[in-house]
Amino acid sequence: MLETLPIYAAGAGALALSLPRLKRRLELSRAKHPSLAGHSRIAKAVARLVPHYEYDDDIYFRADGAPEDVAARRRDAFFALAALYRERFAKSAACTEAAAASLADLQFTGRYRVPFQFARLVRQHLRGGGFLQASRGVRLTDLDGNEFYDVSGSYGVNVFGYDFYRECIADGSARVASLGPVLGACHPIVADNARRLRAISGLDEVSFHMSGTEAVMQAVRLARYHTGRRHLVRFNGAYHGWWEDVQPGIGNPLPPRETYTLKDMDADTLRVLATRRDIACVLVNPLQALHPNAAAPGDSALVDSSRRAGFDRAAYAAWLRQLREVCTRQGIVLIFDEVFVGFRLGLGGAQDYFGVRADMVTYGKTLGGGLPVGVVCGRGDLMKRFRDNRPADICFARGTFNSHPYVMGAMQAFLDRIATPSVRALYEGLDATWDGRAADLNRRLASVGLPVQVANLSTIWTVFYTRPCRYNWMLQYYLRAEGLALSWVGTGRLIFSLDYTAAEYEAVAARFLAAAKAMERDGWWWYSPGLTDRRIRRGILREMVLHRLGFGNGRPDEAPAAPVPALPE
Ligand SMILES: Cc1ncc(COP(=O)(O)O)c(C=O)c1O
Repeated sequence: MLETLPIYAAGAGALALSLPRLKRRLELSRAKHPSLAGHSRIAKAVARLVPHYEYDDDIYFRADGAPEDVAARRRDAFFALAALYRERFAKSAACTEAAAASLADLQFTGRYRVPFQFARLVRQHLRGGGFLQASRGVRLTDLDGNEFYDVSGSYGVNVFGYDFYRECIADGSARVASLGPVLGACHPIVADNARRLRAISGLDEVSFHMSGTEAVMQAVRLARYHTGRRHLVRFNGAYHGWWEDVQPGIGNPLPPRETYTLKDMDADTLRVLATRRDIACVLVNPLQALHPNAAAPGDSALVDSSRRAGFDRAAYAAWLRQLREVCTRQGIVLIFDEVFVGFRLGLGGAQDYFGVRADMVTYGKTLGGGLPVGVVCGRGDLMKRFRDNRPADICFARGTFNSHPYVMGAMQAFLDRIATPSVRALYEGLDATWDGRAADLNRRLASVGLPVQVANLSTIWTVFYTRPCRYNWMLQYYLRAEGLALSWVGTGRLIFSLDYTAAEYEAVAARFLAAAKAMERDGWWWYSPGLTDRRIRRGILREMVLHRLGFGNGRPDEAPAAPVPALPE
């Protein structure tokens, strides 16, 4: 008995020592979102198991178990739309097809437009085109001369209308023409831009980069350097560019490393932040306020109607205040990634809009005045890349094209213009205007019983569907036929520029309604009470298992949620 005492004591000691670690580990698990996206490693493993298969003609138009007459209506409509596309978009489609073989980017975006089971027929018959020839105001012209209202927003870059950026680029180029493309030493405009960005961000220092991804990389790298900690926290579903550490899981060939992906707007996350000592920074993409914990809603993942969105400004502001408080207490660097929303929600960006200050802010997209850019603004102590007392301990960051004179010229022209009364006026009553427009469209859709609605964060809209359905992804092709230009993520993201007039908005709304009515007329939204989103997903899962086991095409009622790569916004 006496001999075993030391063993028990050692065991009890070890247990006592490991209990706090175990507790922290459990807290971390609890703070992960229950979805696949919340578990990057598992998501990667599951993604590798998803087999490729396609629906044959028999199933394609009745994957939801619709009766034969509805399937026939859909089939006829599909090929009628195909004929219209063939005629109307002939040149654009031919150019896209010829170029795609040598453009990896085009192949990728072309592949992820609809759920893969339906993709082949769509690629074959509904070819729109990845090329355009002109822009004017809020309109775009394709190679066939068709005009579209632009709701793609150029990935969010287009805040003030294309003519605005055209002017910024021309004006900016003239401003730096005497120096030309000299790199290394800066054009004086760089200093002026830095001064103005300090005023806008309320932060001490600025660094210039070539993309939003690079700006985020640099902000995280500096946070690690100054805190001496390795991990970054990002929120479930949030996009921060395509660099390894901010895109763990599907889409990244490497397993996740020093990234914790935690639940957005959740007390479990605050508990983790309050107790762990290995967290360097928290990355916040305020766009997530529109769909917390969900990824950018691309139509390639639109396998059912479970997409939801809704913006609660007060609730999100309260969440940011809690984050601010815990980060301050724990010495964690709070980074607002405003690459998307900066200058779109207001001139002071998300910091002003939600009334919370960050330690670092990244900007990009629109700030380049139409040219590529990424910017980090931060507290002086965090931006420093060397230590006075340890000369070899540096945080290296350079980039050949950083502070490129032409980008800096366009940026200065951009900053000049946004300070003018006419641009400032665009922000007056901005949310009221766009909330009103979204509500108006929703009223009109509901009044004619169409199962589709929109949710918005100011000028950023997403479409969601109110009745279980497997064919919502078809809506993007009807919208295009009506003359609306969407980005490759389809109805998941409509982005308006602030200069849309009431008449131009009305034209978009009328076209949206017409497209939705045509979807309904053509039977895509056929519904039977037994059809639920859950049943659809279960059916697809079963279908995938059958395919993995080598049992050909699944049956219509066996038909689910294929994980797809996180889609850039
Ligand atoms: C919030 C956010 N951060 C970073 C990025 C990456 O920017 P870029 O595409 O310029 O690399 C994006 C792009 O969509 C973004 O929306």
